[in-house]
Amino acid sequence: MKHLLGLQGVPEEEIYAILDTAKSFRELLDRPVKKVPSLRGTTIVNLFFENSTRTRISFELAEKRLSADLINFTSSGSSISKGETLLDTVHNIESMKIDLVVVRHSGAGVPAFLAKNTHAIVLNAGDGAHEHPTQALLDMFTMRQRFGEIKGLRVAIVGDIRFSRVARSNAWGLKTLGADVVFCGPPTLMPGDMSDLGVEIAPNLEQAVRGADVVMALRVQRERQNDGYLASEREYRACYGITRERLDAWNPSAMVMHPGPVNRNIELDSEVADSEQSVILDQVTNGVAVRMAALYLLAGGIGK
Ligand code: CP
Repeated sequence: MKHLLGLQGVPEEEIYAILDTAKSFRELLDRPVKKVPSLRGTTIVNLFFENSTRTRISFELAEKRLSADLINFTSSGSSISKGETLLDTVHNIESMKIDLVVVRHSGAGVPAFLAKNTHAIVLNAGDGAHEHPTQALLDMFTMRQRFGEIKGLRVAIVGDIRFSRVARSNAWGLKTLGADVVFCGPPTLMPGDMSDLGVEIAPNLEQAVRGADVVMALRVQRERQNDGYLASEREYRACYGITRERLDAWNPSAMVMHPGPVNRNIELDSEVADSEQSVILDQVTNGVAVRMAALYLLAGGIGK
C-alpha cells in the first residue's frame, strides 16, 4: 500500500498490520518519553481544507512523536483564496520536497486525485462523504482493546449514514475483519443503495441497539439542517437519540462510541457520553497511536 485513501478493498492483513503496529505506539504513549526517531528526515504537510479539531491535532502530534518535519496548511490565508487551483497548490508544495501529504477536503476523491497527480505519499484525513480511514482504524483499535477480537462483533452505527465518511470507512473495515455491521437512521439520511457495503439495516433504534456489542452514534450534521433531511433536532433525538433510559432498557453493557464532535443531548445524551459506558476519549488517545502506525508503515523507509 503506497497511500491510505480509504478502507474499501484494503485486505485484512494490511488492516491488522496497522492495528498491531499501533499497539506498540499506544504503549509508547504511556511512557515518560513519547518520542521515537522513526520518521527523522521525512517531511510531511498537513493540508486541511475543512475544519477539524481531533484529526488535525492527532496527526500533528503523531508526526511530532515520530520526529518528522511538518508543515501545517489551512486553506484560509493561503493562495487558494486568490484563485489558485488545488493541483497548482500541491505542485508548489511538492517542489519544496514534501514526502507525505495528509489531506482533509470537502470533496470526495480529492486524496485519490492528489495520489494520482503527485509523487508524494497521500493519507486521507477525511474526504467529503466518502471515507475517513484513520477514524475507522482508531475505532477498530478501540474495539479490539476492549473485546480482543473484531470478528463476530455486532456494531450498530446510528445517525446520518448518508453523509458519513466515518460510517462508510467503518463498514468497509469492520466487514473485512468479520464483524456484523448494522446501520440505523432516519430514512432521509440513509443512502439509496448499500448492497456493496454488506451491512444490515435496522428498522428502528431498538432493534439496532439490542444485542449490539458496540453502539456508535454519528454526529447530526447541523450544517445540512436547511437541506430538508431532518424535520428537527428534537424529532431526531426522539427517534434516534442514544439516551440513558434507552441504553438501560435495551443494552446496559454496550460500548458507546462517537467520532466527535458530539452534539450533546441530540444524538448522544451527556449522561451517556460522560459515563463509564463511553470510550469517546479513549478513541481520541488511540487515534494518535493509530496515525503514528499509518505514517510509520507508509513512510518509514524514506529517511533510511
Ligand atoms: N472525528 C473527526 O474527524 O473529528 P474532527 O472533525 O474534529 O477532526
